[in-house]
Amino acid sequence: MADPREQHADPQFWALIPAAGIGRRMGADQPKQFLTLGSHSILSHTLSIFLEHPRIRGVVLVLGPEVDPDALDLPFAGGRLFRVVGGAERADSVQNGLDFLAERATPDDWVLVHDAARPCLPIADLDRLLGDLGNDPVGGLLAAPSTDTIKWSDGGAAVERTLDRARVWRALTPQMFRLGVLREANAAARAAGHPVTDEASAIEFFGERPRLVEGSAVNIKVTRQEDLELARLYLMRQGRLQEGFRG
Ligand code: C5P
Repeated sequence: MADPREQHADPQFWALIPAAGIGRRMGADQPKQFLTLGSHSILSHTLSIFLEHPRIRGVVLVLGPEVDPDALDLPFAGGRLFRVVGGAERADSVQNGLDFLAERATPDDWVLVHDAARPCLPIADLDRLLGDLGNDPVGGLLAAPSTDTIKWSDGGAAVERTLDRARVWRALTPQMFRLGVLREANAAARAAGHPVTDEASAIEFFGERPRLVEGSAVNIKVTRQEDLELARLYLMRQGRLQEGFRG
């Protein structure tokens, strides 16, 4: 592959899909991203969103060391899909992907980190994220305003306080940050033992304020059995369950 640093003056967009988790909460005999919806795996549905998008230059797929990529059902990628081996925690898997990208991209390039188990991301949300953050120095994330009132527990079974609902957002993915900033922030948070459950939390730890871009609640993370039926419904509504899919 030619060196993109020489080819492009404008920052490029890359997707990074951590898929090295084992998904214990699903209770299935395989990680949730390998379960099938229609005739393709959840992972395959997710990858196709990015591979079919004209502004995404390449997709880095992070897989567990035990996974044979050749045995997976993956969409047509035209040489734009790169496989990287993951680590023990999500943040370790993301770091491996970022290190891989650092060899091929510039620090100003954008990385969109998206959960493998979110196959229902609407294209309109992806477009809004790219459009709204394109000139930002740091980046931000898709998020949904909370419709529930959120309780902060005392660490046990009692409520300590109630959060102001007007200010509570649920973090979704993709989370889109400049490669250089995210790589440094993620490494710093890991080194400090700070819990990193999403990229924005690493960026916050680094002292920056990720921007919130409103996204749709249909962009669910398939986590429990009941989420499979919902995901099937949303994919069908989007016309993406059978047709419109290049297998
Ligand atoms: O566990 P959780 O649902 O938060 O995982 C979010 C995403 O991170 C999933 O796509 C999962 O496969 C990925 N992950 C990973 N490496 C790990 C743990 C999780 O790539 N060690």
